[in-house]
Amino acid sequence: MGRLQGKSVIITGAGSGIGRAAALLFTREGARLIAVDRTEAVKETVDEVRKAGGVAEAMIADAGSEKDVIAVIDKAVATHGRLDVIWANAGVSGGLVPLAEQTVEHWQEVLRVNLIGPFLAVKYAMPHMVKQQSGAIVLTASVAGLKAGASGHPYAASKAGVISLVQTTAYSLTGTGVRINAVCPGLIETGMTKPIFDRAKERGTADKIGQLNPLKRPGQPHELAAMGLFLASDEASYVNGQAFPVDGGLTASMPYAGKPV
Ligand SMILES: NC(=O)c1ccc[n+]([C@@H]2O[C@H](COP(=O)([O-])OP(=O)(O)OC[C@H]3O[C@@H](n4cnc5c(N)ncnc54)[C@H](O)[C@@H]3O)[C@@H](O)[C@H]2O)c1
Repeated sequence: MGRLQGKSVIITGAGSGIGRAAALLFTREGARLIAVDRTEAVKETVDEVRKAGGVAEAMIADAGSEKDVIAVIDKAVATHGRLDVIWANAGVSGGLVPLAEQTVEHWQEVLRVNLIGPFLAVKYAMPHMVKQQSGAIVLTASVAGLKAGASGHPYAASKAGVISLVQTTAYSLTGTGVRINAVCPGLIETGMTKPIFDRAKERGTADKIGQLNPLKRPGQPHELAAMGLFLASDEASYVNGQAFPVDGGLTASMPYAGKPV
């Protein structure tokens, strides 16, 4: 028996990085998956899943659009008869624009995808899960939602909002049997961070990446997928309303310039 055997699962942002790794891992653990992304790359993810013997369907949709989120959830329920897990993972970085040059439109787009998207996932998944009296919601926040220094302003604000959404929603779900948690990735090697890795490789400084955390390396997508799997599974039956850093220990310490003692 897999850890998600027979469960009806949605993962957004499944065309790349963390979402793709999660799609592969969750289906290996028996999930019946609707894999969502705004790009065609999600079809490659589903091809990989099927080659490995897993059950998945691809859906191209915008995770920040109300109409699309409703369609995604309807599709999961129509295909699999229920909804057990949704991982609202799609996100955009918003780049690093100086504060004085940031526009309202830029903020609106980052918040739309990174914060309104998870809100819509929660809003439209909730009724199905509450009716079943069971379900697990996972959101992707970031260490950038905990502290400054990891991203641009709108991205950090959106991820701080996701952490708050987890806390406030856990409270709203009181007595329903439905759980909600977030993962807060540190620096993970994915499509989103490719420019950082590419630049460092060009400069010959690739070995400097990830040196600020005690594990002294960047993370890989499967290491986030593993945490998401635990939170989505019944093994996490008493874990609720929390945001878990998966960051090699980056946020465990104050900035410290001396040698570890
Ligand atoms: N990589 C990191 O270091 C890091 C750190 C902290 C948090 N995160 C978060 O992890 C999540 C996954 O990102 P990743 O690192 O795997 O990046 P990625 O770029 O490899 O994957 C993100 C996927 O989301 C999709 N996407 C973006 N906007 C979308 C939308 N509106 N609708 C549907 N799909 C959309 C993209 O097409 C892409 O396939 C994001 O929420 C990101 O903010 C990543």
